[in-house]
Amino acid sequence: MKVIFISSEGVRQAVEVQPGGTLMEAALLNMVPGVEGMCGGVCSCATCHCYVQAPWGSTIDAPRAGELEMLDAVTHRRADSRLGCQVTLTEQLDGIEVLLPPSQG
Ligand code: FES
Repeated sequence: MKVIFISSEGVRQAVEVQPGGTLMEAALLNMVPGVEGMCGGVCSCATCHCYVQAPWGSTIDAPRAGELEMLDAVTHRRADSRLGCQVTLTEQLDGIEVLLPPSQG
């Protein structure tokens, strides 16, 4: 399946990944700049912050309390903010577009 990461400058990078992993893992495995994933995906660093573009945002599970708490601490929070490590990629998300913030943290 394909995931399209878009930098804050608008540079698009399409990567091919297997379903079952997370957005954060897809970025790290493909060396996408702008995603750090420092905690390894346990929802405790918020360095995998991203924006899930419409219409994909409405097709994934809503963030749980722990993710929302972490998102409260990020600098560039938006309504469509998510932590990439908390979004599992399924076949239904093939072609998902994910915008990255100007900086992590
Ligand atoms: S990788 Fe640390 S919160 Fe997502």
